[in-house]
Amino acid sequence: MGEGCGLDLRRWLEAMRAAGQVQEVLGADWNLELGTISEINVKRPQHRALLFDQIVGYPKGHRVLTCTTGTPKRLASILRLPVEEVSHQALVSALRGKPREWESRAKDYPPVVRQDGPVFERVMEGDEVDVLAFPAPWWHERDGGRYIGTGCAVVTRDYDSDWINVGTYRVMVHDRNHVGLDMVAGKHGNIQYRKYMEAQKPFPVAIVVGADPLLYLIAGVEVPYGMCEYQYIGAVLGQPVEVVEARGTGLPIPTHAELVLEGWIQPGATRMEGPFGEFHGYYQGKAAPAPVVEVERIYFREHPIILGSPPAKPPHDYSYSKAVMRSALLLEALESAGVPGVQAVWAHEIGGARMLTVASIKQQYAGHAKQCGMVLSQCGVGAYLGRYAIVVDEDIDPTNLEEVMWAVATRTDPEVDIDIIHRALGSKNDPMSVAYRYAAPFSSRAVIDACRPFEHLQDFPPVAEASRELREQVYAKWREALQWD
Ligand SMILES: Cc1cc2nc3c(=O)[nH]c(=O)nc-3n(C[C@H](O)[C@H](O)[C@H](O)COP(=O)(O)O)c2cc1C
Repeated sequence: MGEGCGLDLRRWLEAMRAAGQVQEVLGADWNLELGTISEINVKRPQHRALLFDQIVGYPKGHRVLTCTTGTPKRLASILRLPVEEVSHQALVSALRGKPREWESRAKDYPPVVRQDGPVFERVMEGDEVDVLAFPAPWWHERDGGRYIGTGCAVVTRDYDSDWINVGTYRVMVHDRNHVGLDMVAGKHGNIQYRKYMEAQKPFPVAIVVGADPLLYLIAGVEVPYGMCEYQYIGAVLGQPVEVVEARGTGLPIPTHAELVLEGWIQPGATRMEGPFGEFHGYYQGKAAPAPVVEVERIYFREHPIILGSPPAKPPHDYSYSKAVMRSALLLEALESAGVPGVQAVWAHEIGGARMLTVASIKQQYAGHAKQCGMVLSQCGVGAYLGRYAIVVDEDIDPTNLEEVMWAVATRTDPEVDIDIIHRALGSKNDPMSVAYRYAAPFSSRAVIDACRPFEHLQDFPPVAEASRELREQVYAKWREALQWD
């Protein structure tokens, strides 16, 4: 086991700079320009990460970094995956089996507590506290405010155990010393928060606003209930995370964090938060009351970097990384649930890596496809804001929407192959919640069996496409004449 890792964003940034993966942008405005530049950038193939400096109205060195996780190369480097020729396929296959390994090894990597670290280089406390001293962007036109927390990690402690949770939740700036926190019901941070509220106790919070992107990558996916994300990250790194204890709350924060807001949510303290352009591509809902953190202290390094990760209509800043991560987790969830013969899984970016998931299987028995679809739709990783879970045969590439929809169009009889699950886990963040018909946020699911009917595998019409051998033969013969490359 190595020495420990303080989740230093600057080390990663330097490595990426050397690899030509970072573009500096000088003089952009926090008010909509950072968001719009990032949005345009992320839709370009093989885009670079953007490091904004000299942001309008802020001193040189107060920076914002976006688009960190959007390509296979950068994502592989964040996950410390030794992939030689980095391609999407190489990344996905290098990830196979990894989440299970990380989860089982997490217990071996409790964070190491240090006495000091660069995060304590500068401290604001009491009347000095000023969240507005940092260039939090106003990301989208119809947002309800400036969001300092997007690529962030919110550190909290359970009320009746020593479980530390680290989750990514959006954080809106209210004023110099108040920020709003949107933790959806059922999320681990929200579960912990509710326990404090029931006991009428203030809820301690530390919001890490910039660190190695591995932190928000893992804080933003479904690590099992009761497990600390720092330990999971330790397993990814093969060394423990180094932390210092925040001075007021004692919450552990990475020694090399860029900027941390520490404070408390008092029982019943809420303010209007949102709306915010969300991962499915809509401004969800109107402003609504959300817990408000009274910021007691701000810790930051000289020239701090805010790690921004603004969602929007996909593909967006983190849709690729979430598609890769959630697909790997779904594959393992299916295998752990005893579904055999799963070839591949893909959580499509257009569904915000949640609302449209596809698994391909090699059918082995009657009911196999249905079993796979139901688990895909309802397992822990797939349940929240799922909508369509589709199962296809092994000749269909789940990442290729044309192939998937060809299978749906040609291998289903809607009457028998589409199952509807009623009153499943819904969310106030669902754009369709305007039309929900229940008082509580339930929503339905469609599970589509787009596999050839199992009892007709032998007599199902053959695919009308030249065989691979014939294609290769003809290609080799005609390639030059037809100037195919
Ligand atoms: C950039 C980003 C922003 C997110 N914002 C929120 C949010 O505002 N509220 C929320 O409940 N989940 C949000 N999520 C999703 C959660 O991070 C995710 O569901 C995670 O599993 C929550 O952690 P937990 O399981 O420890 O609660 C966001 C994810 C990312 C990557």
